[in-house]
Amino acid sequence: MSFPIERPRRLRSSPALRRLVAETNLSADHLVQPLFVIEKSNFVQPIPSLADQFYYSPDRLVEKVEALARQGIPAVILFGISDRKDAVGSQAWADDGVIQRAVRAVKAGCPQMLVMTDLCLCEYTDHGHCGIIKNGCVDNDETLKLLAQAAVSQAAAGADIIAPSDMMDGRVAAVRQGLDDASFELTPILSYAAKYASAFYEPFRGAAGSTPAFDDRRGYQMNPANRLEALREVRLDLEEGADMVMVKPALPCLDVIYAVKQTFGRVTAAFQVSGEYAMLESAAANGLLDLKRAVCETLIAIRRAGADFIISYWAEQALPWMGEFAS
Ligand code: PBG
Ligand code: ZN
Repeated sequence: MSFPIERPRRLRSSPALRRLVAETNLSADHLVQPLFVIEKSNFVQPIPSLADQFYYSPDRLVEKVEALARQGIPAVILFGISDRKDAVGSQAWADDGVIQRAVRAVKAGCPQMLVMTDLCLCEYTDHGHCGIIKNGCVDNDETLKLLAQAAVSQAAAGADIIAPSDMMDGRVAAVRQGLDDASFELTPILSYAAKYASAFYEPFRGAAGSTPAFDDRRGYQMNPANRLEALREVRLDLEEGADMVMVKPALPCLDVIYAVKQTFGRVTAAFQVSGEYAMLESAAANGLLDLKRAVCETLIAIRRAGADFIISYWAEQALPWMGEFAS
């Protein structure tokens, strides 16, 4: 059967018909808003490297989270940015650390919002690496102990979901063990399982002051050339007890998202990262494209590839844009 019997255009003739036959959807349920918290009080300021994104002090974070909750966004992921950085990143597990204070404030002020915490040392180390340094290298196994400790500290502050992003081998098992030993056996782990060494994290590092002082992250983050290796990383993390897995970045990795979802059928998240945000924001600021349509197109493409939910800096902004785009 082919033309003139088959005419795919018949199902494209009106907004209602296009909505009726759409294969993929995107709603508030699928979006997670990243937020940056800093060690100040009564403070909200724009982030220079991320247009229209802000630093919040823990006390001012709550009003932002309440606004997101009113839009129906189910979760936020918090990044704590410490100005007390040291060689081992000890603020990552400090009881009065910035992330711990932020989590407590949000859970007290807006308990229905799910709080995910990014678990890594790079926002807390003075050298900017995601682990501690021994003989000039990031020491995998020593780092695991600190990550477990930081995870417990985040859970104790009230974090609903722990999201390790460091890419050390064995970290999901270490974090799971740490959480279980501290009676947080019901706290889920969202593992940044397939996290590539990407040029698209640069605006985030500007915002977090986490650019490595020497070398780069290619010794622990993945080579963008590899997809089978992503499946291996995901398999290992699931075996170690990850409850959900993430692919990062998103748009450069649609094939990876697809393969992960097809292969494992587990809850699969995608992180539309800071460089993806900057790329379209700058193009739009230069009058080169329609930001709203471009953003919605990328979000639906990431869903189409197989992501169950998307961490996106546009989460809040894009929701009102989706209705028009979807029809
Ligand atoms: C911490 C972390 C990074 C991002 C999320 N968690 C930075 C990095 O790995 O260098 C990137 C997020 C973004 O670019 O939006 N390891
Ligand atoms: Zn890191």
